[in-house]
Amino acid sequence: MRIACIGGGPAGLYFAISMKLRDPAHAIDLFERNRPDDTFGWGVVFSDQTVENLLANDPVSGAAIQSEFAHWDDIDVHIHDEAIRSSGHGFIGIGRKRLLAILQERARALGVNLHFQHEASADLDDWAGYDLVIAADGANSRLRDAYEPHFGVDIQIRRNKFFWFGTRKLFEAFTFAFEQTGAGWVWAHAYRFDDSHSTFIVEMDPDSWAGLGLDRMSQEDAIALCEHIFAKYLDGQKLISNAGHLPGPQAWLNFRRIVCANWAYRNLILLGDAAHTAHFSIGSGTKLALEDAIKLADVLNRPGLARDQALAEYQAERNLDVLKLQNSARNSTEWFETLGRYLHFEPIQFAYSLLTRSQRVSHENLRLRDKSWLESVERWFLSRALDRPVSAPAPPMFAPFRLRGLELANRVVVSPMAMYSAEEGEPCDFHLVHYGARAQGGAGLIYTEMTCVSPEGRITPGCAGIYTQAQVAAWGRIVDFVHAHSSAKFCLQLGHSGPKGSTKVGWEGYDVPLDSGNWPVMAASDVPWSEANQVPRPMGRADMDAVVAQFVAAVRRGLEAGFDMIELHAAHGYLLSSFITPLTNRRSDDYGGSLENRLRFPLEVFRAMRAAWPEERPMSVRISANDWMGDLGVTPDEAVEIGRAFAEAGADLIDVSAGQTWADCQPVYGRMFQTPFADQVRNDGRLTTMAVGNIYEPDHVNSILAAGRADLVALARPHLIDPMWTLRAAAQQDYRRVTVPPPYLGGMAQLARNLQREAELKA
Ligand SMILES: Cc1cc2nc3c(=O)[nH]c(=O)nc-3n(C[C@H](O)[C@H](O)[C@H](O)COP(=O)(O)OP(=O)(O)OC[C@H]3O[C@@H](n4cnc5c(N)ncnc54)[C@H](O)[C@@H]3O)c2cc1C
Ligand SMILES: Cc1cc2nc3c(=O)[nH]c(=O)nc-3n(C[C@H](O)[C@H](O)[C@H](O)COP(=O)(O)O)c2cc1C
Repeated sequence: MRIACIGGGPAGLYFAISMKLRDPAHAIDLFERNRPDDTFGWGVVFSDQTVENLLANDPVSGAAIQSEFAHWDDIDVHIHDEAIRSSGHGFIGIGRKRLLAILQERARALGVNLHFQHEASADLDDWAGYDLVIAADGANSRLRDAYEPHFGVDIQIRRNKFFWFGTRKLFEAFTFAFEQTGAGWVWAHAYRFDDSHSTFIVEMDPDSWAGLGLDRMSQEDAIALCEHIFAKYLDGQKLISNAGHLPGPQAWLNFRRIVCANWAYRNLILLGDAAHTAHFSIGSGTKLALEDAIKLADVLNRPGLARDQALAEYQAERNLDVLKLQNSARNSTEWFETLGRYLHFEPIQFAYSLLTRSQRVSHENLRLRDKSWLESVERWFLSRALDRPVSAPAPPMFAPFRLRGLELANRVVVSPMAMYSAEEGEPCDFHLVHYGARAQGGAGLIYTEMTCVSPEGRITPGCAGIYTQAQVAAWGRIVDFVHAHSSAKFCLQLGHSGPKGSTKVGWEGYDVPLDSGNWPVMAASDVPWSEANQVPRPMGRADMDAVVAQFVAAVRRGLEAGFDMIELHAAHGYLLSSFITPLTNRRSDDYGGSLENRLRFPLEVFRAMRAAWPEERPMSVRISANDWMGDLGVTPDEAVEIGRAFAEAGADLIDVSAGQTWADCQPVYGRMFQTPFADQVRNDGRLTTMAVGNIYEPDHVNSILAAGRADLVALARPHLIDPMWTLRAAAQQDYRRVTVPPPYLGGMAQLARNLQREAELKA
């Protein structure tokens, strides 16, 4: 094949090498606009896995690269005049110039025609003599941009400013240094990449950048300012720029996150940064570029594979890796963009939060890397929970938690789950067994399903209620069992179905109206849940007064039944949620429009409930922190205000759920997908929060808690299948100080032993 490769960065060079290795008959011309040793940037970092891939693909260049690596294990986090060091992180770095020199030499030796100082045309017609044209021309790819509609290019310009410096100061640990200036926080990501240089990336938000005058400062002055800010780390060494040709402000970049729906058009193929980028804070752009090159060379040389099929396989496989990395990179980018959220943390928790920011590194990963550091975090967490020094570490999930006068034995919560198994709203033996088993399963707190405050406030005919004395007695029997046979505390979730009422039980079709016997429904406005659902009656003042009275009566009955805590359900599109989200609240009176107005009725209900519930017992509110409808609905920023408003009205805990407020919303699912909202409400709002949503491993729970992303963690579906989820988690972590029902002690001991033995065998 005759191939034109545009761009002599890692992607272009390594692709040319990989093609020649597979078939020396390929004629490859590589065009690079710069001279061989002109390059931007300083060092790049790799993982061990990438090195193995390089060695397998080309042992010659792989060995040359490997022999020049700088290795380091430690990460230092400098914050608030403290340095937190953790170890075992295992990074490898190399200078970008050196990497390119090795690849250039190898490409030349294999017969690739290298043309430097050659500005390549972005017009495919100028490349008519070639079978393939490879756009390896970087993030600002001109070839990609020339055919943009065919590639489906999506570019996001991220908000922070950064400058990629070098320095002769040798950082022996990967160093994150955060410094406060008069204009805001400025930080550096620094690491050594050879015997004489380190990379030193300075980053800050745009306000600090402008506040420091960097938007109008020459490069010389900007460098002097950065040297001054980071003087204590640089030991008198200078910061070196290799963007000297640019005016000062232009040398500061905004990261561009690039995603392409298609990676090939006609005979033009995107490779490396031209196809996708990954934020520098997770340092994987070069790895992706090199691995793209290997895969593309593989498929193009596989006998019998037509070109279209080859390109489809190239994109399908590489895109998976890219999406995973871009997901982690997005988390990491956002962490740095919302740094202010974490600056009130104590340094040890700040460092933990930084290390786990991408969500690729979890609590147990940190244990593998540096057990003694992780145990210092666990001791710190427990000592804060107990308010006294401790000598032994414990998994964060087993730290106790206090809400007003209520002491929870641990941080695991059984999330509210409708069982649709009540008759006339009355819980039965099914509920006794269901809640009894989950209470005995070790969670610190269990929630009832949404328990309705009136018959018409039920979602389905199978929903439980607490609007009759018979229901109080039935709940009382369950509460007594929970209190007598477990150390779990029991929270009653109270709600009213509003526009989503009068529907079938879950397993017969969610939110589908009954075949017969429907009752009228009401809501903030006459907006039905879907075309199939009833149009609700907009509530008038008399309806509101009646609903407030029903909630207050339910609170009194909950007290009579013996519950420890009450939650108001103001999420998921039910009655109170229909007021909060602008998607369903179309009112023009005092209860619609601004957030203050939309919250007026839900807060009225909450305040009346709070007044009826004993002072020493806590209350929580469940909210939908994101309608998943962009600015049309509730956004996580607005959720912070919602959380604050309920907290001011006396809520002790914000139970941060999301969605289910608009039938056509577009949630982005994934592991722990709603936890960022609990994090934001907690740390922007300085509130106590509970995270929920696809959290299923003990490792997830520990990571969320230790990183200060929430104070409690609720699991719903995992508890449906495994009522003993918490006891199993205790056995897995060899943690003994949990309450086990005495008859089950033997099972617990055996499980712990077996898991321990399995772990030893694996090790
Ligand atoms: C601040 C920062 C820090 C980073 N840190 C890391 C890190 O630690 N680890 C890591 O793996 N990655 C890192 N990266 C990312 C990494 O630099 C890129 O992902 C990687 O260089 C992509 O390789 P590439 O070959 O696709 O593109 P590039 O390296 O950008 O190469 C493209 C080449 O094409 C040339 N070119 C462009 N247009 C033309 C044209 N019309 N004619 C001829 N030549 C042209 C350019 O001169 C350039 O040499 C970092 C990036 C930044 C911005
Ligand atoms: C069967 C079932 C019933 C549920 N019923 C309720 C409910 O009554 N009240 C409520 O607030 N959330 C309810 N939820 C939502 C859960 O509390 C939880 O927020 C959601 O399932 C996400 O958590 P998970 O991924 O751990 O399941 C229910 C979930 C399930 C699976």
